[in-house]
Amino acid sequence: MKISKRLQMIASMVHTEHIIDVGCDHGLLDVFLAKTRNIHCLACDISDNALNHARENIKLYGMETLVQTLCTDGLTGVQVTKDDTVILSGMGTHTVIHILEKRNDVEQCIISTHTDVPYLRDWMNQNGFAIQDECFILEHGIAYVIISFSKKEIQYDESDYEIGPILKTNLSYLTYLLNETQKIYQKIPLTHKIQKEKLKEKIDMIKFCIKKAK
Ligand SMILES: C[S@@+](CC[C@H](N)C(=O)[O-])C[C@H]1O[C@@H](n2cnc3c(N)ncnc32)[C@H](O)[C@@H]1O
Repeated sequence: MKISKRLQMIASMVHTEHIIDVGCDHGLLDVFLAKTRNIHCLACDISDNALNHARENIKLYGMETLVQTLCTDGLTGVQVTKDDTVILSGMGTHTVIHILEKRNDVEQCIISTHTDVPYLRDWMNQNGFAIQDECFILEHGIAYVIISFSKKEIQYDESDYEIGPILKTNLSYLTYLLNETQKIYQKIPLTHKIQKEKLKEKIDMIKFCIKKAK
């Protein structure tokens, strides 16, 4: 079966036998993990309509014994154990945080979002998570950062939050980020002094990481 490169990348970051996929939509990630790696999946979504697509895909690929579905808001009614990886992909950072802030039983999770990633890293770290792995992928012109977190106390610095402790050594990501940040910087009028200064600091931070990564 064929799934997008982004979903393939998320799948490659799964290292447990069980996953809970929050916001599974079409359920393709779950079907793929079940079919290719015998992984047990709980495919959850707030929308029963989305879950019907997932159910069709599960049936199409004959994965009914490995993939269960549940219509629920976030992790409501879901028991999470230390052997589960919770996947939150394709939702905004604030929705992800809203889901996780109600729980203290999530030990490992993979999050893929394209909004406010520095804030996500900061919040996760304040709540006892360390970054295990990070990657990025450009799909249809949108950059998705995929981060794998697990429970561990660790101290990060500003560039770890802003760029990522692993991504700050990734030259292709840094080059992409520099281009995008410079484009935004150019568009901001001179009158927005504080905003421009902040972006200039970020550009300098990225340039410094590029120098170190080379
Ligand atoms: C853009 S789709 C992402 C699908 C898939 N995870 C992916 O990455 O391709 C977002 C899905 O999240 C679901 N969703 C949004 N908020 C949710 C919540 N609070 N709890 C569960 N599912 C939610 C939506 O119904 C939708 O199906």
